[in-house]
Amino acid sequence: MAMKAPASSNSYLLLAPLALLLLAAVVFLLPSLNGARVGSDGGLGVLCARRSAGAEDYTVAAPAAPKEEEKPELSLLVGVLTMPKRYERRDIVRLAYALQPAAARARVDVRFVFCRVADPVDAQLVALEAARHGDVVVLGGCEENMNHGKTHAYLSSVPRLFASSPYDYVMKTDDDTYLRVAALADELRGKPRDDVYLGYGYAMGGQPMPFMHGMGYVVSWDVATWVSTAEEILARNDTEGPEDLMVGKWLNLAGRGRNRYDLKPRMYDLSWDMDNFRPDTVAVHMLKDNRRWAAAFSYFNVTAGINLHHLSP
Ligand SMILES: *[C@@H]1O[C@H](CO)[C@@H](O)[C@H](O)[C@H]1NC(C)=O
Ligand SMILES: *[C@@H]1O[C@H](CO)[C@@H](O)[C@H](O)[C@H]1NC(C)=O
Repeated sequence: MAMKAPASSNSYLLLAPLALLLLAAVVFLLPSLNGARVGSDGGLGVLCARRSAGAEDYTVAAPAAPKEEEKPELSLLVGVLTMPKRYERRDIVRLAYALQPAAARARVDVRFVFCRVADPVDAQLVALEAARHGDVVVLGGCEENMNHGKTHAYLSSVPRLFASSPYDYVMKTDDDTYLRVAALADELRGKPRDDVYLGYGYAMGGQPMPFMHGMGYVVSWDVATWVSTAEEILARNDTEGPEDLMVGKWLNLAGRGRNRYDLKPRMYDLSWDMDNFRPDTVAVHMLKDNRRWAAAFSYFNVTAGINLHHLSP
């Protein structure tokens, strides 16, 4: 359990309750759907299922005529930072990802990311969820109820957690963002695979995009790897404070993430009146209640052709 990450000098080795220990150290990756195999990744006691072909991870409706194993052109890990108590929201977000068309020629995995779950009830329920869905990652380096340093813990854990099958890109997003994975993959396809920082650029201090808005941003694997080793971030206490802005600060001070891309206006906040959806959306943010999620599903035709009245037995 050698955790290179630093924020966790307090030992998570000493966790008392067994359930907690299990939960804290265990990462479930997608089990079974397509005969994924369950292996064990020593270091962290990681339960880990790897798929043979990656692209259709969360397609429920099988993609029209799956071609014979197209080699992915890029791979992307999407980490949805969420909190234990948000069970209902997570259900909705899970469905939102599951019912999207798969991104062509891309290996995309979606994981729900938690810090250590302190509450014993939540620990049980999240463990259940992890076992059922296999899409939960629990980080050792942060506490769920503190809300400090979660993004840092995420970005700096990923290179180690997924060392055996690295991704080209690592995304951080939230559970009030509807991400259209295929559109994002198409944006990434032609981009460099190194030194990338992409998202909704937030103009500040005369710079066009010193940092990316927290609705969702992507860094390349090398950038995440750099974050995981950058002692300077911790030395400056730069994991405290508004984290998404901080990510920009880390990168700016170190001259990283220089391949920077602003996906405005294809990433945006949904307005109060919910009237600014656009067909070329990559991500729409501020889906903070069921009504707003419903509006998104309706606009993007996710539920088109599903007639509930015909679903009686
Ligand atoms: C970082 O935080 C610690 C504990 O709060 C403090 O002792 C230290 O002086 C801080 N370092 C900097 C560079 O601000
Ligand atoms: C949803 O379907 C309608 C009717 O087919 C179509 O006109 C519209 O462009 C679709 N919307 C999106 C976002 O694809």
